[in-house]
This record gives sequence, structure tokens and C-alpha cells, in this order.
Amino acid sequence: MSDVITIALSKGRIFKETMPLLAAAGIIPTDDPEKSRKLILDTNRDDVKLVVIRATDVPTYVQYGAADIGVAGKDVLLEHGAEGLYEPVDLKIASCKLMTAGPVDYMPPTGRLRVATKFVNVTKEYFASIGQQVEVIKLYGSMELGPIVGLSDLIVDVVDTGNTLKANGLKPMDKIADISSRLIVNKASMKMKHDRLQQIIEQMRDAVEGK
Ligand code: ATP
Ligand code: PRP
Repeated sequence: MSDVITIALSKGRIFKETMPLLAAAGIIPTDDPEKSRKLILDTNRDDVKLVVIRATDVPTYVQYGAADIGVAGKDVLLEHGAEGLYEPVDLKIASCKLMTAGPVDYMPPTGRLRVATKFVNVTKEYFASIGQQVEVIKLYGSMELGPIVGLSDLIVDVVDTGNTLKANGLKPMDKIADISSRLIVNKASMKMKHDRLQQIIEQMRDAVEGK
């Protein structure tokens, strides 16, 4: 059906925390992504499907219109860029901070600073903004290991409780951005499927604001 609305979500915290907001918009999945191997989930509405994908892929699906709307962390959005996307609602879920972090006994290196992260673009922009030359080392996860094994001096990662840093002998240093998850919408879909998307956006916004 060409007029299906496709919503892109990632498994785990974003899926769990988005469910009550989608329910407020009258959308309830009929499968559990933690139990099902299906990548496209049906919902109680014939005209609404969910695609369950990697968190970092959500903006890509929405940008290209493979999904009409999605939920993505601001960290992922800053890294991806905003092309082709509207970002109408701060859902105020999955809140954390994007930070630099380093060893508890951190001493700046004599040579060029090396920073390990999966947020390469944000990291380059941040250090450029403070006038510091850095070598950015791209990782796909477990950034905390970088300084422990001498791969990097610092890391850039999201921090919530700080427990992960602490457990690995690291400390939070500078805050780059406050992070929460955002509703994102494909710009062309917003024109083509305006009324139904607008309704979902408004109902989710009201749910966030406790209305
Ligand atoms: P991928 O599967 O693509 O590697 P991921 O493992 O980062 O992504 P999640 O851990 O589900 O995916 O994180 C999704 C989003 O939740 C992140 O983009 C970030 O905005 C936020 N987030 C990540 N870690 C935390 C945390 N510890 N506390 C609160 N929010 C977090
Ligand atoms: C994220 C992130 C950090 C950790 C930070 O990982 O990459 O490692 O959370 O959270 P903290 O400051 O509360 O320790 P991941 O998504 O694996 O975290 P999870 O263990 O909370 O699922």
C-alpha cells in the first residue's frame, strides 16, 4: 500500500521509551522487536508500519524517504546532518550528554591529541571550534577502551550516569551537547502525507508535554 506511514525506530531504549508516546497517537505494535526476528513490524493500524533498524541508520532511512518519520538521538542527528529532515519534536527521552572524557590522571600529550569516537564529524567540529588540532580515530563502539590501551588520549561519547567511564578509570571532561531523542520527519512525506503525519506529530508532542 503506497500510502502506508513507515516509522523508523531502533531496538532497546529508544523503542521502549517511544512506545508510550506512539500509544498516545493511537499506534501500538503487534510484535515485540526484542522477541521477533522481523524487521518490519505491523501495528494496530493497517496504514502504519514500524521498521526496526540500527540507531545510527534511522536518519538515513528518513532522509531518503524509506521511512516517513523516525526517532533518533540528537547525537546521531548532529553526526548525520539535517539534510532532508524536519525535527519537529524533542521527545525528551534517552537523555544524556555528549562529552569528552579521559583518564582520571589525564595529562595532555606533547604531540597531537588523539581522540577515539564514533562521532567523527561532531568531534572534528568541536575541537576546531576550540582551536585545537586533533587526530580523530573512528570506532564503532566500546570507546572507553581507547585510552586504556593507548589507542587514544581522549574519547567523545554519550554519558548518562558516568558509571561506564568510572568503571574504566575515566572521567567526564567537557560537555559538547545536551542530548535527547527527537522525532524526525522526511520533508517530502510531510507534504504528501500531511494530515496523518501532522496528527501523529501533534499527539506525540501533547504526550511529551503531559497534555
Ligand atoms: P547502534 O546500535 O547504532 O550502535 P546505540 O547502541 O548507540 O546504536 P542505543 O544504545 O540504543 O543505540 O542508543 C540510542 C540513543 O540513546 C543514542 O543515540 C543516545 O542518544 C541515547 N543514549 C545512549 N546511551 C545512553 C545512556 N546510557 N543513557 C541515556 N541515553 C543514552
Ligand atoms: C552508552 C554509551 C556509554 C554508556 C553511558 O552505551 O556508549 O558507554 O551508555 O552511560 P552511563 O554514563 O550511564 O554509564 P550503551 O548503549 O551500551 O549503554 P547501556 O549499557 O546503558 O545500554
